[in-house]
Amino acid sequence: MEERTIQVDLCSTKKEKPKSDQLQFGKVFTDHMFIMDYSDPLGWHDARIVPYQPITIDPSAMIFHYGQSVFEGLKAYLSPEGEAQLFRPEKNMQRLNRSNDRLCIPPIDEEFALQAIKELVALERDWIPASEGTSLYIRPFVISTEPYIGVAPSRHYKFIIILSPVGAYYAEGINPVKIAVENHYVRTVKGGTGEAKTGGNYAASLKAQEMVANTGYAQVLWLDGVEKKYIEEVGSMNVFFKINGEVVTPALNGSILEGVTRNSVIQLLKHWNIPVAERRVSMEEIYQAGKDGLLEEAFGTGTAAVISPIGQLTWNDEHLYVNDGNTGTVAKRLYDTLTGIQYGKEKDPFGWIEQV
Ligand code: COI
Repeated sequence: MEERTIQVDLCSTKKEKPKSDQLQFGKVFTDHMFIMDYSDPLGWHDARIVPYQPITIDPSAMIFHYGQSVFEGLKAYLSPEGEAQLFRPEKNMQRLNRSNDRLCIPPIDEEFALQAIKELVALERDWIPASEGTSLYIRPFVISTEPYIGVAPSRHYKFIIILSPVGAYYAEGINPVKIAVENHYVRTVKGGTGEAKTGGNYAASLKAQEMVANTGYAQVLWLDGVEKKYIEEVGSMNVFFKINGEVVTPALNGSILEGVTRNSVIQLLKHWNIPVAERRVSMEEIYQAGKDGLLEEAFGTGTAAVISPIGQLTWNDEHLYVNDGNTGTVAKRLYDTLTGIQYGKEKDPFGWIEQV
């Protein structure tokens, strides 16, 4: 790893911290943030932790026009001993660079990015909330900052890390959510940017989500962009179904985001000898399984959403109720085990935890 140091400029006044049992998702940010600049031909330079503050960017900066940006999401958890711990952070750093590559953003030294996360989290240790189900969400992101409105990869970037104490992602908390299957719009197609964590994928998802939000749906379920037949993901989470004893999840196909929680869930299921398959799953198959009484569970997985049971799926105005709208036993076991490991309350047989 290149030898790099991080300059630290501490803030003079600290913000008041929110009550940890009243936290929502992503509305409050800590006292400091990390920034590092990239300029061609110098490379990444000037790594620093500074007081959390607005940044000044030229209106012609490429991020505002062509959306060349990527982001990540991971969390710091407080263990019973009061230690801050991260869950498989190297996976997020690897994915950050895969997203960078897709968006023509220069790679970032993964070990150094992790060091930056750790230094920032250690400095903001008092911001990690302690109430059940809360954590410190870590949002690393890269934006293109070159002042130029020609369409080309930018030659200047900023890599920034901000931190936010968070509660549950969905208002439902750990209770089952309602999901609407999207039949009109598509999120992405194979060969597009679906497997990269880039803002454009999320911008493309807003219209469909807005259309169902006021009828009580937490999110939409995206189908493949060509036939609108096969299940992809929910946008803020990957999806799993338990059908007649087997857990299935759509296989990664180039347009689905490779979730760290998704990967961990598959490993846990294998470890427990619960049959699990990554394959193509059509909405027709799920619907039929529901009608035949074989759809035992449905749940989403993600860093923000953790394990989120799906109690109702609506497809073409037909409502499919899963497990009578209750949390299933596999979803509950996964939630308890994953959060047990993340919060240091359970053994970590896979070596997933990294202390800050
Ligand atoms: C995460 O789970 O961390 C995500 O990135 C989902 C999000 C867009 C809130």
